Amino acid sequence: MPEQNNAAIDPRHLPRHVAIIMDGNGRWAEQRGLPRTKGHEAGADAVRETLKAARELGLKVLSLYAFSTENWRRSRAEVNALFRLMSHHIRRELDEIAKHGIRVRIMGDIERLPEQARKDLQTCIDRTARNTEMDVCVGLNYGGRAEIVRAARRLASQCAARAMRSEEITEDRFARELYVPEHPEVDLLIRTSGEQRISNFMLWQISYAEIVFLPVLWPDFNGHWMREAIREFQSRRRRFGGRP
Ligand code: IPE
Ligand code: IPE
Ligand code: MG
Repeated sequence: MPEQNNAAIDPRHLPRHVAIIMDGNGRWAEQRGLPRTKGHEAGADAVRETLKAARELGLKVLSLYAFSTENWRRSRAEVNALFRLMSHHIRRELDEIAKHGIRVRIMGDIERLPEQARKDLQTCIDRTARNTEMDVCVGLNYGGRAEIVRAARRLASQCAARAMRSEEITEDRFARELYVPEHPEVDLLIRTSGEQRISNFMLWQISYAEIVFLPVLWPDFNGHWMREAIREFQSRRRRFGGRP
């Protein structure tokens, strides 16, 4: 990241799709001598801040990594606390989310989630289904590899049923089997917490994403950091493999 700059953000060149790996809740709590779940609580508040900032900037598609296929490796207590918190926040924020025209989508295999969490999610999805201001897609029990394998299986079964020929499998056709096929590819991928890795997030969709790693822990993320990441995005020259 360059040093702080307050250059204006160009509203004509916003990333069409911003994806965020929301990392660092545990460290935020540990730094304060608090249990990790307190970090997740503060992280949920940062999600609300993020939605507000995204709306104000006029972003149209936001994907948020909330729980990975690997996060089941954490203690049962932490996992349960995470999903309880999620239910609590959905119930608390739903009116606000609906009022602002946000449509909530999910990517991931949510069959494995606790029943209450699934119910609250379904309520949220149904209630916001016709909204058009901004799409917010939450990754829950989401893994980029799992998503690709799922797409491959769906195509394979269509081939086996003779509904399609293997030669018809193109990149576009493949992408149509991803969890949310109508979203454009990710333009800007943000990861907080200072870690510089992808951790199995949106492997297909980030092929040509600009990546911004921020030194801030997720609970401290807010509109300031969102704008910082977008300024950085706007300062980059994208080439997509073409001539410089
Ligand atoms: C991100 O924060 C939230 C989830 C993965 C659910 P972490 O819980 O990974 O926080 P750190 O990385 O341990 O600090
Ligand atoms: C990635 O963070 C997953 C989410 C933010 C939901 P992790 O904390 O699970 O990733 P690693 O373990 O540091 O790679
Ligand atoms: Mg982490």
